[in-house]
Amino acid sequence: MRRRKRLGNKMVQNLVEEVPFWWHSLDLGGGIVTSGFKSQATLAQELDSINMPRDLTDKTVLDIGGWDGFFAFEAEKRGAARVAVVDHYQWSMDLGEWWRYWQDCRARNFPPGPYHEQPFWHPDTMPGKLGFDTARNALGSGVEEMTVDFMEADLQDIGVWDVVLYLGVLYHMEDPLRALKRVGAVTRERVIIETEAVVIPGYEHEALWRFFPGNELNHDVSNWWAPNIAALVGALQPAGFSRAEVMLGPAREQVEADGGPHHYRAIVHGIKGPH
Ligand SMILES: C[S@@+](CC[C@H](N)C(=O)[O-])C[C@H]1O[C@@H](n2cnc3c(N)ncnc32)[C@H](O)[C@@H]1O
Repeated sequence: MRRRKRLGNKMVQNLVEEVPFWWHSLDLGGGIVTSGFKSQATLAQELDSINMPRDLTDKTVLDIGGWDGFFAFEAEKRGAARVAVVDHYQWSMDLGEWWRYWQDCRARNFPPGPYHEQPFWHPDTMPGKLGFDTARNALGSGVEEMTVDFMEADLQDIGVWDVVLYLGVLYHMEDPLRALKRVGAVTRERVIIETEAVVIPGYEHEALWRFFPGNELNHDVSNWWAPNIAALVGALQPAGFSRAEVMLGPAREQVEADGGPHHYRAIVHGIKGPH
């Protein structure tokens, strides 16, 4: 990958301070770490549990919904020949304003309206991309960007990538099976999916999706669906994958617990062919 020259520390520090909201805590070198909503410890644990191949030499990697780019920068570090982030939704918002709105609605127990109908929605200028841009410049990274809605984009333009990351995105999709089919269409070898998931004790063998019509999941109006493990694994075949590897399924205590639905984060790899 063609990397650029890393920026100097003072300049990086100034640029980092201009970003109103960071999702990822990124180590930009020179002792500068962004104060992301996801801490470095959380990201290290997520990285460990998603089981991204340690050696990505000669591989191409697409990070769909990559936001500030932590996982894409990691793929670059692991030697990938080409890495790109596709994002659109969070990048379209003034994230400082969005975060204040979200916290305010939560404090008042007031359901937020759709973010793309709020005054902080600016898809023309993409203010929410500032974090990714800043980190990419600071790191001298060659990670590419695609500023498109993955659900609307022409898949010919996206291309086909050896490894696809689909982390924390599936539950945001209004139509998750269609989304997974699109993910399947851009994957050559393997997709790594991380998602909110449910356990409904007694129904683990039924393929079920739980629907959130409002802000029931995390007070977030952009969350729609969470599958159980049978539904997630079951969706991968119609999405074009020949097999699924469950990296993180439900805990036994949840499956055996009373009541429900219980929630957790599932990690499943969808695999094509012999890889
Ligand atoms: C919960 S964040 C996950 C960010 C990152 N992948 C992670 O795991 O930390 C969901 C991301 O998906 C992006 N996203 C949601 N819908 C999208 C779409 N249709 N096309 C592209 N990106 C989308 C959002 O903008 C946001 O960056």
